[in-house]
Amino acid sequence: MAAHTMQISRFTKKQLALYGAPPRTFNPNTDPLITVLDLHKRFKNLEVLKGVELYVKKGDVVVLIGPSGSGKSTLLRCINRLETIQGGDVLFEGNSITRGPVDLNGIRQRIGMVFQHFNLFPHLTVQENITLGPRYLRKMPTDEANALAERLLTRVGLADKKDAYPSQLSGGQKQRIAIARALAMEPDVMLFDEPTSALDPEMVGEVLEVMKDLARDGMTMIIVTHEMGFAREVASKVVFMADGIIQESGTPEKLFTHPKNERLISFLGKIL
Ligand SMILES: Nc1ncnc2c1ncn2[C@@H]1O[C@H](COP(=O)(O)OP(=O)(O)O)[C@@H](O)[C@H]1O
Ligand SMILES: [Mg+2]
Repeated sequence: MAAHTMQISRFTKKQLALYGAPPRTFNPNTDPLITVLDLHKRFKNLEVLKGVELYVKKGDVVVLIGPSGSGKSTLLRCINRLETIQGGDVLFEGNSITRGPVDLNGIRQRIGMVFQHFNLFPHLTVQENITLGPRYLRKMPTDEANALAERLLTRVGLADKKDAYPSQLSGGQKQRIAIARALAMEPDVMLFDEPTSALDPEMVGEVLEVMKDLARDGMTMIIVTHEMGFAREVASKVVFMADGIIQESGTPEKLFTHPKNERLISFLGKIL
C-alpha cells in the first residue's frame, strides 16, 4: 500500500487533475482493487467532494459514515461511474475508470451496487429480475441463468420466492432480492448505499445478515450505513467523511472507541 501511495505521489495534484493517474501494472496481491485519488466533484457551485483519497483492497469491508449531505452517496456513485468528476481519479485494478476509453458496462458488471430503494422491476418475477442482467448483459443461456438465480435465492434465504412478484414481498425481502440481483453479475466489488435505511426496523437484521455472510465469504464491499453495531462487527476499515473530505479512517475500534477528529466525536455523540 505504501509503495503504491509513493508511486502515485510522484504525480502532482495538478497533473492528476489534468490527466488522471497513468495506467500501471496491477498486482492483485498487493495493490488496492479500488483507488480514489484527490477526487473532486462539483454540482454547479456546490463542491461536494474536495479531494477524497481512499484505498480498498480485495476482501476489505469499508464502512463509510458521515453526516447527511457529506457526499457519501456521491462518492459511491463516482466509484461506479454514475457521476462525472472534475478532478483527481478513480482506478479499478490500477486503471482509470474516469479517463480515456472505458468499458462502462464492464465496470458496472464488476462493481455491483445496491441502493436504499431497491428498484426491482414490478412486472417481472423475482427470478426474472435476477436473471435479466446475466441473460442480456452476460449473454448467459436461460437455464444457466435460472440455476444461478436459484443458488443466489438460496443464499439470501428466499428460494421459495422465485415466482413471486415484488409487490408480494416485504421490504426486507425485496432488498435481499436486490442484493441477489447485483450478485448475479458476479461482481468483484459491491457498493451498498444505506441498504437498510428504508426498511422497517424488524427487517433490518435479515438484510444485514446477508451482508455479513458476503463479508465472511471475502467479498470486497464499500457500505454506507448508520448501523454502527454492524460496522463494528464487520468492517475492516471505517471511513468518516465530512465537509467533502475523509476526516478520519481506521479500524472500528480506533474510530468508535478512540475517535480523534472533532467532527467525528460530535457525529458519534449524535448517533450512538
Ligand atoms: N445530482 C445532484 N445535483 C445537485 N446536487 C446534488 C446532486 N446529488 C447530490 N447533490 C448534493 O450533494 C451533496 C452531497 O450529497 P450526497 O452525496 O447524497 O450526501 P450523503 O449521501 O452523504 O447524504 C448534498 O448537498 C446534495 O444535495
Ligand atoms: Mg446518501
